[in-house]
Amino acid sequence: MCGIVGYISKDEKASSILLDAVKKLEYRGYDSVGIATINNGKIELRKDSGKIDEVDREIHFVDMAGSAGVAHVRWATHGHPNKTNSHPHTDNNNTIAIVHNGIIENHEELKKELIEEGHIFKSKTDSEVIAHLIEKFISEGFNFQNAVLETFKLIKGSNAIGAISVNSPNELIAIRHESPLVVGLGKNGNFIASDVPAFLKHTKRVIFPEDNELVIMNSDNVTIKDLNGNILNKKVETIDWDEEMAQKEGYDHFMLKEINEQSVVVSDTLAGGKDIENIVSELGNIKRICFVACGTSYHGALTGKYIFESFLNIPTDVIYSSEFKYFNNVLDEDMLAIFVSQSGETADTLSAIKMAKNHSKTLAIVNVLGSSITREADHIIYTKAGPEIAVAATKTYLSQLVSIYLLAIYLSKNRSNVFHENMVSQIEKVPDYINQLMLDEDQIKEIAKKYKSASVFFFLGRGFIYPTALEGALKLKEITYIHAEGYPSGELKHGPLALIDEDVVVVVLAPSENSNSISINSYNDTVNNMEEVKSRGAQIIAITSYKNGENINVNDIFKVDNQVDELLSPLVYIVPLQLLSYYISIYKGLDPDKPRNLAKCVTVK
Ligand code: AGP
Repeated sequence: MCGIVGYISKDEKASSILLDAVKKLEYRGYDSVGIATINNGKIELRKDSGKIDEVDREIHFVDMAGSAGVAHVRWATHGHPNKTNSHPHTDNNNTIAIVHNGIIENHEELKKELIEEGHIFKSKTDSEVIAHLIEKFISEGFNFQNAVLETFKLIKGSNAIGAISVNSPNELIAIRHESPLVVGLGKNGNFIASDVPAFLKHTKRVIFPEDNELVIMNSDNVTIKDLNGNILNKKVETIDWDEEMAQKEGYDHFMLKEINEQSVVVSDTLAGGKDIENIVSELGNIKRICFVACGTSYHGALTGKYIFESFLNIPTDVIYSSEFKYFNNVLDEDMLAIFVSQSGETADTLSAIKMAKNHSKTLAIVNVLGSSITREADHIIYTKAGPEIAVAATKTYLSQLVSIYLLAIYLSKNRSNVFHENMVSQIEKVPDYINQLMLDEDQIKEIAKKYKSASVFFFLGRGFIYPTALEGALKLKEITYIHAEGYPSGELKHGPLALIDEDVVVVVLAPSENSNSISINSYNDTVNNMEEVKSRGAQIIAITSYKNGENINVNDIFKVDNQVDELLSPLVYIVPLQLLSYYISIYKGLDPDKPRNLAKCVTVK
């Protein structure tokens, strides 16, 4: 996955604006970076492998002149991360520069034909064929925009492209198929980007091109055409995110800022409850639910299974998006298929929703307005988390969870089920619970310092809190590179207990039982499971709200001092786990915002 940006203005220097924009997309890839501008009738190109700031220190992007350009951050798929493979790519004569996000599935055959026709390739990427194809079509008499169009018709796969040409210096052309692309309408010029934060500083007015739509822009106008060249009338939308939301605002890292924003995110998501209630009223009869998601979103979905099955008696499956195609025969019109995705662009989830639509009712729970998955869904719940920049999802996870709880609550109300009673007012207390927890951040720091050199962690939870254990383990793996596994507390004795010794750290999530008639009282069983690992020498960190939790036999304890219902505990217990991973990453000297090998949004299968 990569990030692309383009900017064209009358007289503004494009390079500084592109550099700033591409930094906002660094979460999409940080192997390499590059910018190309049109300067005095020539393409000026600077690029290299490495993080943006490191590369910029060497090659000074802002020294590049020109008022139109394209920029790219790369997460390598074809070709190692090095200078030659970095984007932008150019044609034989350096008259065209392109940036590309996606995979050209038929690049090998296209490249072979182009080489036979005399084109000389510099890189090992699939993307470079785009520049050569545009060059070829221009040489055959096509104008720039039609050359891009013809090129696009030849390539297969999920792709978003931005292109500039010295033959058409006042035009920036872009096109997409299944890879994200958004147009920003600025005061002094116009933008294309993979995601809105790239240009949020300059404009909130956007157009979302659909698949197979060609974007032609100059500094004053944007025209969108279909593949037959017909001009389309596109809606201009206004994004309700602020620029500050995409800034660190004094925090050392986006991840810490985003963890700190969670109490507000829960309140904001609750405030959107009416929209969810309206969607529920349109859903009609539902006999089964199937959640489909990846990574952190999958853990949110798995929590949904506990909620929907335990309290609404709706049979609920949860399937990894990449596995969905092996199970899609179960789709029918009585099923609600729910696709959970922060980015709304994850390739596997996008393919899955395309398979499910027209067979089942589809609902997308997504954070990014206008993203590809939302365009496929019958119904959309937008989570109210604002832009999330750190690669590791935190606040979007919590807003997904709140959305799923609200969905269950309103479905239950519709079915006159008791589950909904008092639940909204209980969730309304969660922001205070989170704020309270954040006051104890120092305690988590101490625990993180103590265990930062451990090489194996297990995270255990039972019932509703089990998916939270999985998410705690994922966070730790992602940003600290420590091996971590999440398990149902009762499952360890069926094999993994063989791995337990004094070098292993076990984080046990033990929400207390409470008086609520629908609570499920897993605490005592969890304490028994904790004893099993303790007696094999493991070091235990307990996270518990149990009133006598101090008396349990553990190495460290983080007391959750509130009366959160066990049923709602996933909304609270994830916070100390996020902080634990964050601080271990810091004490190990790592960058939690940009974990190695990972990208925020995975647009390849
Ligand atoms: C979360 O910390 C990860 N970055 C990753 O697991 C992520 O949740 C997954 O790739 C799914 O992304 P999505 O929610 O944007 O679909």
